[in-house]
Order: sequence, then C-alpha cells, then structure tokens
Amino acid sequence: MTAVDQLPEQRIVRVTFADGTHGDYPFIWLRDNCPTAWHPETHEKVQDLLRIPADIAPRDIKLRESEVEIAWDRDNHISRFALDWLADNRPGRVLADPAVVTSAVWRGDTTKADLPRADASALLSDDGALYDWLAAAKAWGLALVDGLSSDPESGMAVARRIGFLRETNFGKTFEVKSKANPNNLAYTAVALPLHTDLANQELPPGFQFLHCLANEAVGGGSVFADGFAIAADLRATDPAAFDLLSRRSVPFRFHDVDHDIRQRQTVIRLDEYGNPAEICWNAHLAGIFDMPAETLADYYAAYRALMAATRDPAYSVEFTLKAGEMVVFDNRRVLHGRAAFDPTTGFRYLHGCYVDRGEFDSRMRVLARARRTNGH
Ligand code: OGA
Ligand code: ZN
Repeated sequence: MTAVDQLPEQRIVRVTFADGTHGDYPFIWLRDNCPTAWHPETHEKVQDLLRIPADIAPRDIKLRESEVEIAWDRDNHISRFALDWLADNRPGRVLADPAVVTSAVWRGDTTKADLPRADASALLSDDGALYDWLAAAKAWGLALVDGLSSDPESGMAVARRIGFLRETNFGKTFEVKSKANPNNLAYTAVALPLHTDLANQELPPGFQFLHCLANEAVGGGSVFADGFAIAADLRATDPAAFDLLSRRSVPFRFHDVDHDIRQRQTVIRLDEYGNPAEICWNAHLAGIFDMPAETLADYYAAYRALMAATRDPAYSVEFTLKAGEMVVFDNRRVLHGRAAFDPTTGFRYLHGCYVDRGEFDSRMRVLARARRTNGH
C-alpha cells in the first residue's frame, strides 16, 4: 500500500510505493524540485534556490490517489508531486536515460557481417529504424549504412538527420582522397595505422562518418579496433601501464599555416566510476612527452604496450568499404585505420564528417520519447 511518512530528525519524507519499495526525499530537495520551479513552456528552472529557507519543512502532507501534496511551513507554498514522478526520481538512483546503452565490446573475431547495419533510406524516413540503428551503433561503437547514392552529400544527409555536424579545421565535411599539398596523412595514399582523429582538439569529435564513393585502387582496406577491448585487456594484464596511461597526460598537436591546435590528453580517460570512457590515440599527432625523466621509461613501456595491442590482429577487424556504404564509429572509443593504396590503379574517395556524442544522445532521447507516446 502506498504510504507517506515524515522523518523529522533526518529531515526527509519517505514515500512507500504500492510495490513495497520506498524513496527518501530530503525536505530541501522536495521544495527545490516543486513542479512550479520550472517555466511551463521553456522547461528551464526559474525558481531561485536561495529564496527557499534552508530549514524549510512540511507543515502538512497529504497522500492523494496519484500524488503527494505538501504544504510548506516557512513560505506557505504548496507543492504537488505525482507518485510516478517520485518513483522515477528517487534520490540515490541515477535517472533512467534512453541514450545510455551498454557497450558491446568486440575483438578481432568480429566480421563485417556482424556489424549493425541499416539502409540509408530507412534511416532517413523511419524513426524506429533510426533509433534501433543508433542504439546498436552506440553499443558497438561501429556500424554501417548502405544504399547511399553517388551524391557526396547523401552520407552527410544521414549524419545531419542525427544532429549538427561538428566543424573542425578540416571543414564541416572533408574529402579523403590522395591530394596535392596534403595537410593530413589521410589525404595521401599511405597506410594509416589505427588511430583516433583529432586527439589534438580540446574535445576530439565524437562519431565519425566516412561515406565511400569510390574504392577502386589496389589496397585501401579499412581497419577498426575497439579501444574499450584493448583498454580492458591492458588493465587485466598490465595494471601499472593502464594506470599510467589513464593518469598521465601527454601533449597532442596539429599545425599548418593557419592553425596550431594543441591539447594535453590522457590516452585512456576514465569516467567517475573508473571505467574507460574514451581513448585518445594518435601517434602522428602525439607531441613531445614532457613528464619527468624518472617517469618516462615507465611511460614509454606503457605507451608501447598499448601500441603493440593496436597492431595485434586479436583486436582488429579488416574489410573493404564499397561505394554506397558508409562506416560510422565512435572516434573517442573505436580506433580506425587503412591500408596503403596505389592511386595509379584506381580512384579512392571517402567523404567524411563528425557528429558529437551529445547529438547522438539527444536524437536517441527524442526518438525514445516519440516511441513511448506511440505506445511501443
Ligand atoms: C581519416 C582516416 C581512413 C581512410 O580520414 O581520418 O583515417 O580509410 N581515413 O582513408
Ligand atoms: Zn582518421
């Protein structure tokens, strides 16, 4: 049976729900989260916390059929909380988020056929198909789109359907082909060992989109590896190396005539629970390691251990992109690379862009909202 009790010593209201579970709500938290605290149209919080007396307490609490009504002692305000809202927002529980997807960590036994894949026209026209593909792309950190036209904008249109493109010093979109006067190794025909892009940026871009328009040259196969798998195995086999790579930052730098973009990064960034959240790996952009001499030997050993893992076929998946396909990957988790190609044997052309992680998450939440309303 639903019940509501006041625990004055702890300054909390305890709500026991019909299923027998309960939530404990501090007085100040309840008053701060009164539904009237938000602007009804913009949904932004407009109530000023400092106008609420810190020692506020309920004068009266009533349990109604589907809500709890609290009359407050110090400011005579009345707050009404829906029981469902109280159940969903119990302090101590992380709020449910439709953009949170458990990572499916993968290794070198994965094949192209295993990867999440969707048809471009389905992604553009069907919200359900888009949500499912986004969730899978987030879980794997790597997914494919097929059925794209030979219009270089067709892949970018799928990216734009998710969110704003992340502009960088290489433009809003970029053309990956062998060019004269390249300012990036990607714009040559050389092999690119596994890396993440733009480690030199304050915030390296989230998801990367590479639409293949032509791949007719000899060579040019794509390679991917799950940085979370590499990090997890390194933590298990060489915890000291893992520790150094997650605690010590190194400088990354890109510079050309117009730019000099530098940022220090840890190669492995941990979340607040100590789990790898991000991998920053780009040997071409790594600057000069500047830690004290006595740490450098250990750091080199750790850095080389991770580098060796990026060369180990136990982690890498290799396949050739076909014209009309687009590969999409979390650039802050999944490492990518390519084999060298011979531009005299045929044309190779990818059109790329980035969409940050936050855009992905926002689109997933909005699509999930529509799904709930439609009763799915
Ligand atoms: C890039 C890149 C891979 C490729 O443009 O950042 O890594 O297959 N390209 O050319
Ligand atoms: Zn790259």
